[in-house]
Amino acid sequence: MQVGIVTISDSRSQGAREDTTTPLIRRIMEVAGFEVSLAALVPDEVERIQSQLVTMADQLRLPLILTTGGTGFGPRDVTPEATRRVIDREVPGLPEAMRAATAKQSPFAWLSRGTAGLRGRTLIVNLPGSPRAVEECLGALLPLLPHAFEMIDGRHHD
Ligand code: MTE
Repeated sequence: MQVGIVTISDSRSQGAREDTTTPLIRRIMEVAGFEVSLAALVPDEVERIQSQLVTMADQLRLPLILTTGGTGFGPRDVTPEATRRVIDREVPGLPEAMRAATAKQSPFAWLSRGTAGLRGRTLIVNLPGSPRAVEECLGALLPLLPHAFEMIDGRHHD
């Protein structure tokens, strides 16, 4: 199963801050049996995020895209807005599950505005930007993915 990673950060895309989140997601996903097809680093710009998501979904036809960063309340945090522009169907349960499961350890989980949805057969999920949040959120998300992909493939619930 292939996955694309889109890391959204002004400072990391300019090289002003080291990007430790992308390697962490890569490691966790590889351990979970995924192959990372592409990892892109883009600034907090709706158009740039949108076009990266569309390329990964429509041209590369990746079954899963994980974004990281840009889900907070900062004036430049626009990842959920860019994601909503490209999805056909929202999947609110995944971010709800990640927030509910991880808020026990990190109450600030409630401050992530991340969303998730389907663009065709591609599932797009927003993760927060910090490595700790990524680790916690993937712990809640990963167990839900096998059944999600079975449904996308039409193997269940005809
Ligand atoms: N979710 C989990 N599970 N653990 C965390 O530590 N950090 C929060 C939140 N979600 C956090 C989390 C914080 S402090 C912020 S500001 C928001 O995610 C948004 O982060 P982002 O703008 O980097 O996406």
